[in-house]
Amino acid sequence: MKSELSNEPMRVGVKASRAYEVLIGRGLIDQAGQRIRAVSNAKKAVIVSDDVVFPLYGALLESSLGKSGIESAAYVFYHGEDGKSLQNYASLLEFMSDMRLNRDDLLLSLGGGVAGDLGGFAASTFLRGIGFVQVPTSLLADVDSSVGGKTAVNLPSGKNRAGSFYQPMLVLCDTAALETLPEREYANGCAEIVKYGMIGDEALFDKIASRPVKENYAKVIRACVEMKKRFVEQDERDRGVRALLNFGHTVGHAVEKLSEYRVPHGRAVAIGMACVTRAAVRKGLCEESTAERLEALLTSYGLPCETACDSASLAEACLSDKKAVNGGVNLIMPERIGACRALYVPSNEMIDWISAGRKNG
Ligand code: GLY
Repeated sequence: MKSELSNEPMRVGVKASRAYEVLIGRGLIDQAGQRIRAVSNAKKAVIVSDDVVFPLYGALLESSLGKSGIESAAYVFYHGEDGKSLQNYASLLEFMSDMRLNRDDLLLSLGGGVAGDLGGFAASTFLRGIGFVQVPTSLLADVDSSVGGKTAVNLPSGKNRAGSFYQPMLVLCDTAALETLPEREYANGCAEIVKYGMIGDEALFDKIASRPVKENYAKVIRACVEMKKRFVEQDERDRGVRALLNFGHTVGHAVEKLSEYRVPHGRAVAIGMACVTRAAVRKGLCEESTAERLEALLTSYGLPCETACDSASLAEACLSDKKAVNGGVNLIMPERIGACRALYVPSNEMIDWISAGRKNG
């Protein structure tokens, strides 16, 4: 990859508790040093990445930082969800201490959602907060987890149970990095993109139905980030409208948990979206055609629409979701493609909703 500052990336500005830009384009890892210099005086940076992503892009990022006078060291962890364990979080903090980072220095997350969540939480807590830059390399991280400031690690009792809202100073979505994305990871990212179409953008839904996401990465990522920006600017702390981004996630998280995290996030969300939409049809909240179009699109991206988990276990796992309120859950329900709303489902009705959402229910 060669430097192409002349080939300007797309830009989306986010005005949350911190204002920052999301840049989307090819070659941004190679340009990271100059781009970061424009927003930070850091002298040092820790790069947080896993053992799959770092060998692909770590040297390019380190060299770019070095050219802009930013000394860096990499904290590389074994890939997978265990990267978000309390032990890994603690050893990252010790690594940062050993580097003698100060508050003007930076943490860069290079990779997917695990690197972003772990790195963001470490950046928000080390010295009560140091500079943070997201350099997502997966489609899912580009369109969702790198934007909006949610950071977290896992507790033995559940996923993302310790976390913070901590906005990055800059997000660099290098679309060239998506060229090395395995097919399964591509499909996972597409599930979140389908979600954006369902909750707020029928044109995006139609666009990705008629032309594969991979033929149009930058514009599709921009459409998703622009929508996410609107939710985050209205409701940064996730007390209201931001909950719509949770469409498919309550059932999805239940599927992930029951599979002991063997079903990846995007596939689980696909199952969750299909299940809730079938339930909405059966309860008279939306047309049959909404469920048919959703399932056709998910299937075209190789995503599942059903799980082998039994309905009682699914309902129970939904009710233990960290977002459960007063014993029930706010399920995000589609009204049509491009419009969803929250509906409170009390605990005693959950099994009925899940059963209504089964393919053969
Ligand atoms: N991933 C959902 C949110 O950021 O609110």
